[in-house]
Amino acid sequence: MEIIIVKNYNEMSKKAASIMESVIREKEDCVLGLPTGSTPIGVYEELVRMHKEEGLSFEKVRTVNLDEYVGLEESNDQSYRYFMNNNLFDKVNIDKKNTNVPNGMKEDIHAECERYEEVINKMDGIDIQLLGIGNNGHIGFNEPDEELNVNTSLVVLKEDTIEANSRFFKNRSEVPKEAISMGIGTIMRAKRILLVANGKNKAKALHALISGKITTNNPASILQLHSNVTLVIDEEAASLF
Ligand code: F6R
Repeated sequence: MEIIIVKNYNEMSKKAASIMESVIREKEDCVLGLPTGSTPIGVYEELVRMHKEEGLSFEKVRTVNLDEYVGLEESNDQSYRYFMNNNLFDKVNIDKKNTNVPNGMKEDIHAECERYEEVINKMDGIDIQLLGIGNNGHIGFNEPDEELNVNTSLVVLKEDTIEANSRFFKNRSEVPKEAISMGIGTIMRAKRILLVANGKNKAKALHALISGKITTNNPASILQLHSNVTLVIDEEAASLF
């Protein structure tokens, strides 16, 4: 595992974006696995800047997002499809047909999970999966539990995740209780994983990620088994290393 510790959020965003850029420049039709949340916003801003100022093209790039809430329309500004359009897709020359986010409005969520896993399988691998990490060690919405899902599945969010995500909603009761998330196996099949994190809140989860032990109580700890993982984290997030 490669660990890059940077000073602050700005440096984290620039470093991670430059790694994503090198993948896109090397393979114009690469597959990017993408997260939402507050951490990757700076990475997306930097990629948009590279597109506008340095000719980075997304024309043939394909994307798959990690997760989506159940029950939010695409037009809801808290849906992850809305987030991706707003922070990246509408600001670069990507073909929206090449972007994939699970559809949390489908009546049959299990069928949607299967369809989504199939979409990813047909892509011949995610070239780089960008990840954030939850305060509780979740990746995607794979929450700490006795068992973890291998493939894309319907997940019930833990109380601490609902609490953490309530900052984006008017009140806590509006936070959806369920989501569709890539499974741990879906994530681990990515050819390369790039995890970004900043701030003290993430220090404990990151410590578990480099502990040398794997536990379903910290889903991210399984990344220790992947052969190509880079962490780009700021000093606060690395404070327990
Ligand atoms: C989002 C996702 C989550 C977030 C995590 C951290 O698509 O899959 O695992 O990466 O909850 O969120 P932030 O970046 O808001 O701290």
